[in-house]
Amino acid sequence: MKTTHFISGLLLVLLIILANCRNEVSDTEPEPGTPAGTTYLEPSPQRNGDAQAGYQYLIYGDFISSGIPLPVFKQVFGSNSPDDLGRTGDADGISYRFNVVTAANGVKVVTPTCLTCHAERLNGQVVVGLGSNTYDYTTDQAVTFQQADLAVQLFYGQNSPEWEAYYPASRAYQAIGPYILTKTRGVNPADKIFATLSAHRHADDLHWIDDQQFNVPLEAVPTDVPAWWLMKKKHALYYNGLGRGDFARLSSASGMLTLLDSAEARRTDDRFPDLMAWIRSLEAPAYPYPVDQALAAAGQVVFEKNCSKCHGKYNIPDEEYPNLLVDLSTVGTDPLLSQTYQSYPEYHNWYNGSWYALGDHKGQLLPNSGYVAPPLDGIWATAPYLHNGSVPTLEDLLNSPQRPAYWKRTFDNTEAEYDKVKVGWKYSVETSQADADTYNTTLAGYRNQGHTFGDVLGADDRKALIEYLKTL
Ligand code: HEC
Ligand code: HEC
Repeated sequence: MKTTHFISGLLLVLLIILANCRNEVSDTEPEPGTPAGTTYLEPSPQRNGDAQAGYQYLIYGDFISSGIPLPVFKQVFGSNSPDDLGRTGDADGISYRFNVVTAANGVKVVTPTCLTCHAERLNGQVVVGLGSNTYDYTTDQAVTFQQADLAVQLFYGQNSPEWEAYYPASRAYQAIGPYILTKTRGVNPADKIFATLSAHRHADDLHWIDDQQFNVPLEAVPTDVPAWWLMKKKHALYYNGLGRGDFARLSSASGMLTLLDSAEARRTDDRFPDLMAWIRSLEAPAYPYPVDQALAAAGQVVFEKNCSKCHGKYNIPDEEYPNLLVDLSTVGTDPLLSQTYQSYPEYHNWYNGSWYALGDHKGQLLPNSGYVAPPLDGIWATAPYLHNGSVPTLEDLLNSPQRPAYWKRTFDNTEAEYDKVKVGWKYSVETSQADADTYNTTLAGYRNQGHTFGDVLGADDRKALIEYLKTL
């Protein structure tokens, strides 16, 4: 009787842990003189790959090599998820957020994947490549993994191969947990995950070190997750354009969560050009509702007059994207993400001296003071807006006095939650932050200031511009 209670208690703990887990465009030549307050980002050579092989690797691959033993996962959750991306074999019925992989010692484990952050529901359907805007990083994952430790120990004991296959994931989450907390649901601490993991990795051979080798600030700076279909136009990755060199090498650093050493990193790095080729093959989803074409045509004129110099042109065959970094003083959005790299150079210094920055296909992290003006393909689908997701709709973005200081939404991402007039998520205006579902733009890093380029427009021009943005 007692044992039964103990086991069902542990199952509950596991349930809570996993519930918390729910969650080539031609390069444009630099203009003769870029617009004031902007800098052209130079391209770097990229490795070629096989896109179809890349997709298979994404949904079946072992780039994260440690996680919850498969039988434990199935016992707690069953294996009936409708969102399994049609996978077969062990991943049949497992949510797209996880892969089922065989750890180095032969044990099958369920691991988090890229799609934990790089897939999301939109109008009821999962869109692979859309950045997650609902995942909740406001609770400490270290605590949940402390509880998971007890559960895995109970099922298998600590001298088991299952424990060995599970332990690297637990160790990593317990080390990073307190450093990756956000203050609102829907924003992402990925930059901080990598900064904190690197503090625990030997720069040369990447093995795990229990003590932090450099001081990591406790607070995480929140970001949105960029849509993957934009990557093919970009010369530099990440919101402030610091990701330079080989994009496959840069992205493969996700493996730092659980990899054993640089031999494992090298195996993963060999497969990542395929994954990048698949990401480059993605197109933005088309706006699924009616568009007023005459109004959109008027909006295109407004866009090309006020916005194109930074965001490019979208009408085939004149499509172009200028790849500009915009100074903080020109764009005026929350400076904390950009400034953090200046205040804490330890992370990018570690990276630029590490295994990841070696050889012909090296990655480099070269921080800038400013933000990239992103391509706007599929912008209708990627609310909330700005690098920190602080503005819920395009209408609010393009009329800055109208932006809500505190706002709250349901995170259901159903069609009923989508605002076709303001373009973005429906929300309620709040007067304070009562809970984690309310976005509080008065906090450092979460501010909704800047990017006032739409303020000068009259109401008719703004309406036309928003209609045009639906067509990108
Ligand atoms: C924990 C969430 C998370 C996971 C897991 C994750 N990413 Fe990301 N990814 C992000 C966030 C957040 C950004 C934006 C960071 C920034 O710009 O500061 C990002 C940026 C990127 C970019 C750059 C996009 C651009 O337009 O600049 C690429 C490419 C990318 N991720 C690929 C991957 C791949 C491949 C994986 C899996 C191997 C992965 N990511 C796993 C959250 C995640
Ligand atoms: C001087 C350059 C510049 C001009 C002009 C400009 N933008 Fe931007 N835009 C940026 C930068 C830089 C960002 C990213 C800022 C951030 O995330 O902090 C941005 C972000 C955006 C975003 C949010 C993207 C996202 O994924 O969240 C939209 C939408 C946008 N701009 C639309 C426009 C429109 C429409 C105009 C014309 C009225 C315009 N911009 C004019 C530089 C510019």
